[in-house]
Amino acid sequence: MKIGTPKEVFGGENRVAMTPDSALQLQKLGYECAIESGAGANAGFSDETYAAAGVEIVKTAAALWKAADIIAKVRQPNEAELKRLTKDKTLISFFNPAGNEDGMALAKSKGANVIAMEMVPRISRAQKMDALSSMANIAGYRAVIEAGNNFGRFFTGQITAAGKVPPAKVLVVGAGVAGLAAIGTSTSLGAITLAFDVRPEVAEQVESMGAEFVYLDFEEEQQDGAATGGYASVSSPEFREAQLAKFRELAPEVDIVITTALIPNREAPELWTEDMVKAMKPGSVIVDLAAEKGGNCKLTVADEKIVTDNGVTIIGYTDFPSRMAAQASTLYATNIRHMMTDLTPEKDGQINHNMEDDVIRGATVTFQGDITFPPPPPKVKAIAAQKKETPKELTAEEKRANEVAAFKAQTKFQVTLLTVGAVLMLIVGAFAPASFMSHFIVFALACFVGFQVIWGVSHSLHTPLMAVTNAISGIVILGALLQIGSSDWLVVILSAISVLIASINIVGGFMVTRRMLAMFQKS
Ligand code: NAI
Repeated sequence: MKIGTPKEVFGGENRVAMTPDSALQLQKLGYECAIESGAGANAGFSDETYAAAGVEIVKTAAALWKAADIIAKVRQPNEAELKRLTKDKTLISFFNPAGNEDGMALAKSKGANVIAMEMVPRISRAQKMDALSSMANIAGYRAVIEAGNNFGRFFTGQITAAGKVPPAKVLVVGAGVAGLAAIGTSTSLGAITLAFDVRPEVAEQVESMGAEFVYLDFEEEQQDGAATGGYASVSSPEFREAQLAKFRELAPEVDIVITTALIPNREAPELWTEDMVKAMKPGSVIVDLAAEKGGNCKLTVADEKIVTDNGVTIIGYTDFPSRMAAQASTLYATNIRHMMTDLTPEKDGQINHNMEDDVIRGATVTFQGDITFPPPPPKVKAIAAQKKETPKELTAEEKRANEVAAFKAQTKFQVTLLTVGAVLMLIVGAFAPASFMSHFIVFALACFVGFQVIWGVSHSLHTPLMAVTNAISGIVILGALLQIGSSDWLVVILSAISVLIASINIVGGFMVTRRMLAMFQKS
């Protein structure tokens, strides 16, 4: 079969669904590859590089749609493109099935199979095909770069000969894929980064990236507001009020706001109101990633950059991935290639459209003349919000009972150990000379006390403990050196071994302590 990629017809779209690298991989699956001449030019891939990767260059879109059995593209196809579909063709593309009734009907009437890339379920196995996440990741990164480009100051704080520069304060609203990418970029540029999400389980991720999670004084609802499947649900009016009050408090402090809040299949919630924009300092920047769905900021104008009367820049571009076309095309083409791998289990260049497969079923919106959207819920659970099991608070009696049980178990262990030791001692004592026995008793007691002491020391105190054992090793070396001149060869060998082992302990102890100290030192 032949996979073909036409040039994107949507105005300003620079991405392309096939790269020379992805074409090489598709050929390994047994497919022939074709591309419309100039399709990759805006993403930095020339016809020559495609030809060198074994891709056929087709002069016109019409010829490409006719020749290809599978058409891979980026943007939702327009009517003229859909009319080129036939019964035996498969289209893989963003399709917006929920808001594209006419397109769905046309694809159905043509009998073509359509795989909508935004419908790939968010389950672990499908992550490699998750084009929404690939694009949101780029959008989050680019949003920070765009904000920096419009912000008149550094992100990081600096102390220079010309004066002290405070760090920028960035607030990211919504910590999904785009939000986390924005947080990562913002913290790596050195800004103080705050982040908020209705799903409290993302707080850990936010904090692990060096940002500060903004908590609301609204515990219960913040947890109830989280939905399954890793997505959020609509918040209650009370929760929304608490959220807005917090944002109002933050508005005069923050320099940059990046909003990414989204609830699937809904208009974006309005979270940054007009009065908040007014409260911001002149020179501040808002990047509203949700602009396409109506915007999280009241004043956002989709696809435009505006500057308010009080000097706040609001960016509502909806084409961030296209503004980084080389990167976006590489990731998107890889998503498509992985989808093709799942569709070609035999690697024989033939599509096996297995509707029993969760991922393929989930993404297929028309199949053999039927509309198959919306899909049934996947059999495998989505990457869901994992509710943290909070440990049960114990009552005083339960605590006491636990302590007694632990004490009993420990005592039992110690009594057993002592009994076994005493029996061994009796057996050895029956045969060994009296001088050996006195040393042996000291040795056995040292083992017992040493074990108890070391076992009882908490992990955080192991470094000082190591210093103490170093001192003990020093005493062992001294003792061994006093004995090493003995006329008995067995004593000489034992002394030499003692010196060697104690020296290893001392040198090793110093090396570990040095490494630990270095961890606390700033370079
Ligand atoms: P996502 O679903 O992974 O993340 C959205 C996050 O918003 C979730 O973590 C959700 O819990 C949170 N959220 C929902 N309601 C909220 C509220 N009231 N307050 C705070 N947080 C709330 O979505 P993803 O993939 O990260 O995309 C984020 C946005 O970026 C979407 O609006 C998407 O359409 C947009 N996007 C924009 C692009 C552009 O060029 N402008 C390109 C790609 C994505």
